[in-house]
Amino acid sequence: MTTLGLIGLGRIGAFHADTLTSLPEISGLVVTDERPDVVAEVAAKYGARPADSVEALLSSGVDGVVVAAATPAHAELALAAVERGLPTFCEKPIASTAAESARVAEIIARSGVPVQVGYQRRFDAAFAAVKEAVDSGAVGALHTVRSTTMDPAPPPMDYIKGSGGIFRDCAVHDFDVIRWVTGQEVVEVYATGSVQGDPLFTEYGDVDTAAIVVRFDGGALGLVSAARYNGRGYDCRLEAHGFDDTVVAGWDQGAPVRNADPRFAAPGDFPAGPPHHFFMDRFTEAFRTELSAFVDVVGGAPIRGATVADAVEVAWIAEAATESLRRGVPVRIEEVRQ
Ligand SMILES: NC(=O)c1ccc[n+]([C@@H]2O[C@H](COP(=O)([O-])OP(=O)(O)OC[C@H]3O[C@@H](n4cnc5c(N)ncnc54)[C@H](O)[C@@H]3O)[C@@H](O)[C@H]2O)c1
Repeated sequence: MTTLGLIGLGRIGAFHADTLTSLPEISGLVVTDERPDVVAEVAAKYGARPADSVEALLSSGVDGVVVAAATPAHAELALAAVERGLPTFCEKPIASTAAESARVAEIIARSGVPVQVGYQRRFDAAFAAVKEAVDSGAVGALHTVRSTTMDPAPPPMDYIKGSGGIFRDCAVHDFDVIRWVTGQEVVEVYATGSVQGDPLFTEYGDVDTAAIVVRFDGGALGLVSAARYNGRGYDCRLEAHGFDDTVVAGWDQGAPVRNADPRFAAPGDFPAGPPHHFFMDRFTEAFRTELSAFVDVVGGAPIRGATVADAVEVAWIAEAATESLRRGVPVRIEEVRQ
């Protein structure tokens, strides 16, 4: 049986507390956050043990640590856990910038302590089936992959302010998944974006809608679409087009789209709905499988999800996209890596 520590109890941290305390292989959960009121509330709700500081949590005898605090705290918290030799699950991204991610990754690699990064789509049954179809050769040579992430509404603007922007915060999921599914490395990206929602996006140097064209070293092209205001619901899709076949994830009955063709738009026709509301309901099972896989890592199993090395590559793609948006031109990964 395993006891875990959970640092950060906001939107996703509280959700992870719920998931972790329902895993049969978890015998105890110790929780902490910068906000004592939240610690007390989450501890009481899920029967977890409260810790009044990160230090207290790390020395409480936990077998592993889940970092779900705000992005700017990830690097420091993950390194504090790794320094103690504790296997760590870190929510994406592992640090605020790619350069910082690379620095953190070097220290983690030297430590030999396993660190899994929170890219849960890899654990979703539909995304995994796309990966399997591509790997098996059934799709043939890939010519195009499309990845879409559209939230119904943005998180609080305070969150946006510290998020690093839509590429580092949101499109990183798409970058991770297209890299994982194609098995190819990204060489160049062109990113554009616009703000039609809260003007604070502009003030924070961010956008609420973005499109990114990606060129891979194996010849495939990627198209990533991300948006913070998608009225019909949480739209998360992956489409892999090959010379022999096309496979998709996210075209399920909860796909938040309305078929406008009058010949096929009778009530009850696909998608029958209701539309997915947000990442929590769409990926409930994936989060569960992901955290269960992390418990296996704590027990000595190899990492099945995204590694820190994967997260660093993804961070460089996000960095290049951020730079491309700023300059209005395509940016090569090698340019930003220097
Ligand atoms: N995998 C996913 O799909 C997914 C979804 C949402 C968020 N996330 C990631 O999870 C992280 C948290 O996001 P959120 O939406 O829960 O944010 P949030 O703002 O709701 O919560 C963040 C929490 O972290 C706490 N915190 C900040 N610094 C801390 C520190 N040094 N020590 C302890 N606690 C600290 C805050 O008090 C707050 O309670 C972000 O990095 C985000 O990128 C991942």
